[in-house]
Amino acid sequence: MSTLVTGIGELTTNDDELGRMRDAAVVLEGGLVAWVGQAAAAPAADARVDVAGRAVLPGWVDSHTHLVFAGDRTAEFEARMAGEPYAAGGIGVTVAATRAASDDELAANLDRLADEALRGGTTALEVKTGYGLTVADELRSARIAAARADAVTFLGAHLVPEGSDAQGYVDLVAGEMLEAVAPHVDAVDVFCERGAFDEQQSRRVLEAARARGLALRVHGNQLGPGPGTRLAVELGALSVDHVAFLDDDEVAMLADSWHGGRGTVATVLPACDLSTRMPLAPARRLLDAGAVVAIASNCNPGTSYTTSMAYCVATAVLQMGLTVEEAVRAATLGGAAAIDRDAPRTGRDGRPLAPLGRIRPGARADLQVLDAPSVTHLAYRPGVPLVHAVWRAGDLVVA
Ligand code: NIG
Repeated sequence: MSTLVTGIGELTTNDDELGRMRDAAVVLEGGLVAWVGQAAAAPAADARVDVAGRAVLPGWVDSHTHLVFAGDRTAEFEARMAGEPYAAGGIGVTVAATRAASDDELAANLDRLADEALRGGTTALEVKTGYGLTVADELRSARIAAARADAVTFLGAHLVPEGSDAQGYVDLVAGEMLEAVAPHVDAVDVFCERGAFDEQQSRRVLEAARARGLALRVHGNQLGPGPGTRLAVELGALSVDHVAFLDDDEVAMLADSWHGGRGTVATVLPACDLSTRMPLAPARRLLDAGAVVAIASNCNPGTSYTTSMAYCVATAVLQMGLTVEEAVRAATLGGAAAIDRDAPRTGRDGRPLAPLGRIRPGARADLQVLDAPSVTHLAYRPGVPLVHAVWRAGDLVVA
């Protein structure tokens, strides 16, 4: 069954040859994009949808979320808005609530948030563990995430749980815990920050993950200067996320990591920066230096309780100095690069995975239609729910 999506006023493809097109059409077939071109030249298809001059772009690829959790941290948010600084210790509150929740409760909460994200145009999600912090709780978090996410990340090294000593806990994460979760995850992440895990502890976990063939990520340079970004680049991590505090050498290092092959994506999390009242990450500086930037929601109950990628994109334009085109690219193709899905891959189960983040033949048919003539409206009309329709893997999931 093929579907012709026609009447596209403005089509953002993220494809270097196709670029941004006017009066375009796209054919979807078998879950993939089969054809892209001018509407006047479109081939026949089994079904036809006319989007009446609206803008069409790839679905958002949200490459940083923490959606396996229970509980609520409204009180912590209120205290922060009243002047309290963010302290990573709040993670422990969510750990306690998550451990006390049933599998069904955790899965239902994840589904609620993933459905909310989908209605907002997010067609691909990375989901982290990290609120279990025992072998059993991290394993069930990974399993629950794997049922819904496009990429699953093990974040056992999120916080040293109450009652554990740091070194013993790092041994557990890099040993028994990693062994248990490895079949269910694509990558391993470490919160490399003062108050969480230091450079040596982070390196230990990341090297153990690499030895198992898993991809790496780092939460780094969120709360202040630190070793996270350097470590991520040195170890060839897919991404370093937060990056609010970067010096010029670190910015250059991230840009240079792409010379001669795949480098480390700098993932900025504007909603988190605002909610924690921290400086906004230097996305403009990173792009000017030639780094690859992703924008993600960091949806979690502590530092960034939003699934709205449109809000993150608008913030990146209005407050971080990105053009709309740059912000849209970072929230689609940038996110795809951060989860290693910007090219065809093989999944954990050995099946082929179509690339994400572009609208071109062979890509997964993930499209969002805006109730607007141009993507510029994402920043011009911030806060307005502009999503008119969404296709995910060729299925019309929001209409
Ligand atoms: O990405 N930085 C570490 N992890 C989360 C915070 C999670 C929390 O406070 O619950 C983050 O911001």
